[in-house]
Amino acid sequence: MTMRQSSIILLAGLFISCSASISRDKKAALQTCYECSNIADPAQCSRVVTCQANEVCYTQSHTTSLIFQSTVYSMGCRPSAVCDALSGAAVGKRRNVRALDTHCNKCCRTNNCNSRLCGATGTTNPTAATTSPTYVRLLGGSNAYEGRVEVFHGGIWGSICDDGWGGNEAQVVCGMLGYSRSGSGGAQGTLFGGAPQYAKIFMDEVNCTGTEASIDLCHFNGWGVHDCGHNEDAGVICNSASREDNIIFLLDTGLGGVIFRMDLNTQSYVPIPMNNLYTPTAFDYDATDGRIYFVDYKLKQLMSVHFSGTDVRELKQLDSNADLEKIQVDPINRKLFYADTGNNLIASINLDGSGYQIIVNQSLDEPRDLALVPATQMIYWTDWGSSPKIERANYAGGSRQTLASTNLKWPNGLAYDYTENRLYFVDAGTHKIEAMQPDGSSRTVILTDPAAHFFAVSPYQQYLYYTDWNRETVMRVNKDGSGQIQIGPRGFRQLADIKVHKYGYGIPGVVTPSPIIVDESHIFVRLVGRGYSNEGLVEVYINGEWGTICDDMWDDREAKVVCEMMGFGKTGAKAVSRAYYGTDSSIIIFLDDVNCTGEESHIAQCTHIGDWGVHNCGHNEDAGVNCTFDLNTIRDFVLVADSYIQEIYRMDLETGSYSAIPQSAVRTPIAIDYDPLAHIVYYTDVVLHMIKSTKLDGTNEKILRRLNSAAVPDGLTLDLQNRLIFYTDTGNDVIVKMGMDGSNAVNVTNTNLDEPRSVTLDVANRIVFWTDWGVHPKIEKSNYDGTNRQTLIDSGLKYPNGLVYDGSTNKLYLCDAGTNKIEVMDTNGQNRKMIFQDAGAHFFGIDVDSQYLYVSDWTKDGVVRLNKDGSGETPVGPPSFGKLNGIALYHQGG
Ligand SMILES: *[C@@H]1O[C@H](CO)[C@@H](O)[C@H](O)[C@H]1NC(C)=O
Ligand SMILES: *[C@@H]1O[C@H](CO)[C@@H](O)[C@H](O)[C@H]1NC(C)=O
Ligand SMILES: *[C@@H]1O[C@H](CO)[C@@H](O)[C@H](O)[C@H]1NC(C)=O
Ligand SMILES: *[C@@H]1O[C@H](CO)[C@@H](O)[C@H](O)[C@H]1NC(C)=O
Ligand SMILES: *[C@@H]1O[C@H](CO)[C@@H](O)[C@H](O)[C@H]1NC(C)=O
Repeated sequence: MTMRQSSIILLAGLFISCSASISRDKKAALQTCYECSNIADPAQCSRVVTCQANEVCYTQSHTTSLIFQSTVYSMGCRPSAVCDALSGAAVGKRRNVRALDTHCNKCCRTNNCNSRLCGATGTTNPTAATTSPTYVRLLGGSNAYEGRVEVFHGGIWGSICDDGWGGNEAQVVCGMLGYSRSGSGGAQGTLFGGAPQYAKIFMDEVNCTGTEASIDLCHFNGWGVHDCGHNEDAGVICNSASREDNIIFLLDTGLGGVIFRMDLNTQSYVPIPMNNLYTPTAFDYDATDGRIYFVDYKLKQLMSVHFSGTDVRELKQLDSNADLEKIQVDPINRKLFYADTGNNLIASINLDGSGYQIIVNQSLDEPRDLALVPATQMIYWTDWGSSPKIERANYAGGSRQTLASTNLKWPNGLAYDYTENRLYFVDAGTHKIEAMQPDGSSRTVILTDPAAHFFAVSPYQQYLYYTDWNRETVMRVNKDGSGQIQIGPRGFRQLADIKVHKYGYGIPGVVTPSPIIVDESHIFVRLVGRGYSNEGLVEVYINGEWGTICDDMWDDREAKVVCEMMGFGKTGAKAVSRAYYGTDSSIIIFLDDVNCTGEESHIAQCTHIGDWGVHNCGHNEDAGVNCTFDLNTIRDFVLVADSYIQEIYRMDLETGSYSAIPQSAVRTPIAIDYDPLAHIVYYTDVVLHMIKSTKLDGTNEKILRRLNSAAVPDGLTLDLQNRLIFYTDTGNDVIVKMGMDGSNAVNVTNTNLDEPRSVTLDVANRIVFWTDWGVHPKIEKSNYDGTNRQTLIDSGLKYPNGLVYDGSTNKLYLCDAGTNKIEVMDTNGQNRKMIFQDAGAHFFGIDVDSQYLYVSDWTKDGVVRLNKDGSGETPVGPPSFGKLNGIALYHQGG
């Protein structure tokens, strides 16, 4: 068995390496900008120019990274008031909202230039913050708890050199981000990717005690004094079991769609990476289950993700016209509401994906923001169309009423304050923040700020937090309009939404279940290190990080619980201590002094002293277990082949916990199947050009068939009744049938095959089905001997990777990585039906049991379970695999 693979991070983004830096002198009111004459060569960004009074910095983006999509460079100055249809759409309008230059076109849109709205753009310099605290942010992590550290100083971001960087320094950074200080670790070198060569290195030889409130309170060489390169960038891994509290969630659409988690107190922040695939353009946070709901504009999907950035699920695939700018969750009635300016409607859907309902589809021009009152089931919305207004209706669309229709221009943001039962709204055209009663009465101006381009607002205690596209930052003002200040560093692009989250604050009756969410369904264990698959170092997964357990008080009662989670059962479970199976010193020690009775079914049910991440141990005290491998009592599982980590795994179906099946050589395993009678795993390896078998515990590893060097055996399936193996070989373009010991191989078919991949059997009728993802993708079948060959379907396919025959329903289930569909059909290709579509998926393998479909997905880094009608998408196990290919289920008794 191999050691835990070190974190592989496909880094990451840099951004605003040459960001506009704004003059802090109020009177001068002139912007200074970097001038990069060539965005392909950002090193040229060193020249600073001062703009004229009527100019602003001109920014360009250049696609360089996965998370941020693009690096934003400043390109010198340009006139501030450009307002013509030629140069694109208006801020916050229609679909170009995501692509435009924030500094111009505050008024028009290409398809409907509303001259009344095209007043002076009023881009003047906002008041700069009087003091400039030091902020930190993380970049390049694979979840919201880790990354390379950047520090904001003098208006720009720079890195920290890793000389002297360790746990104490990480504690300070993690504390600034609102995470627990305990359990944090420093990372050195390029673990999270290095910053670009031209980025500033601000700090070196940082030496903290660990308790400092801010990183600049630690000893260091002085700003910019260093002898380092970007191969020495400091990073942190923070405790992912931190309190989920005191957060400002932000969404920046100008950076390509990134949701940030900003600490309410220090205003340092971290992007929530949530799989590089997604570019959110609207979001809301549901504190009851700790999930962020978001809209992906490109994929046209309504999605949700756990706040850690893991466990992305699809709520609804939208139609191609849909254009959702804001969404709002009602956590009490478990519904999500959205305004769709593409289809001009307001709709709701239950948070489980059911009950889609159009609420309003008449007399909507440009509906944008929404506010909800769960108790009265009322919905409020803004419309910034040619007759701007704020309206309300009940959840069924009835009792519709206009609350405000005068003195509005672009009412972009709307929020309901549950402590005062008052509506707050921000208008980028009138430059006002206003308030009114829920019936529209007592309308009051809170703040007039001609320099602002207001976009979104979120009330919290005595404050209103809001986003301002001119200031490119978060702002805060007291509810009486006094005390306007900048929150956090400048350097965002278009903050399209903001939600302040504080434990116990917000909608009455809605609080997070616990400040530290210890949710069993998101906590997994795995065994790694030396030894067989029933023994190893215990690692625990929570919120996107794996960590270890300290062996203080670790005995057989605790081992019983881990062995149970692994599917081995409690009998004979033995505790092993002192890192007997090896360790990984780069990860967190999550638990210490764990005390179980032995009766628990999940490690999260045991008690432990202190919070997650609090311990007094070293990794030489890591806990392990030695479970009993009894093939007759092992619980239901799923086998998966991971070609990236180069392992085959057995994962317990109930808990999603797993361990690798140790093999002497695994290079690129693809197809996998299981013989439950003999407890033997069969799998293909396309780099070793082999078909292999092993006992489930990893012993008795055998090469059944060595193929020629051209062979690429992508598909394999077993006929247990007739003791046969079928496999596809897309290198030699052949489908082969052989005995289960690899003998008597005969070709089923070797003609007219282009890229055969998946293979599945109807054993009773001796029929073999396969997919071909070649130039003319198709699904075919023939008898076992190759006779009676037929094409079932040859349209509407692109990369049909997975196919499985379901004997219980006599249907074929198909997953296609090109169309991103899962389909069902009869065994003659008739009655074909799409049951699930996920534009963000890359499906590979599929298997079926009496109740569910299980699919491996390259972009979700794990296994997803669905009902056979396509509903109920649920991840199985953690999303921390590399590239999962073949998948095979085992159920006791069939
Ligand atoms: C860090 O500071 C402490 C206390 O000031 C000192 O004892 C220690 O030697 C310093 N460490 C380094 C690596 O400079
Ligand atoms: C508006 O919504 C109702 C209710 O869903 C629907 O019956 C009607 O067809 C819709 N009208 C338009 C123009 O889409
Ligand atoms: C472990 O927990 C049990 C009760 O759950 C308690 O009686 C026992 O004292 C605890 N052990 C230690 C060492 O704390
Ligand atoms: C694990 O258990 C097996 C069977 O009881 C035993 O042979 C082996 O020595 C144990 N390994 C360790 C490290 O305790
Ligand atoms: C089986 O197919 C392969 C690939 O086309 C071919 O090289 C081989 O000769 C075939 N074997 C038989 C017995 O026809």
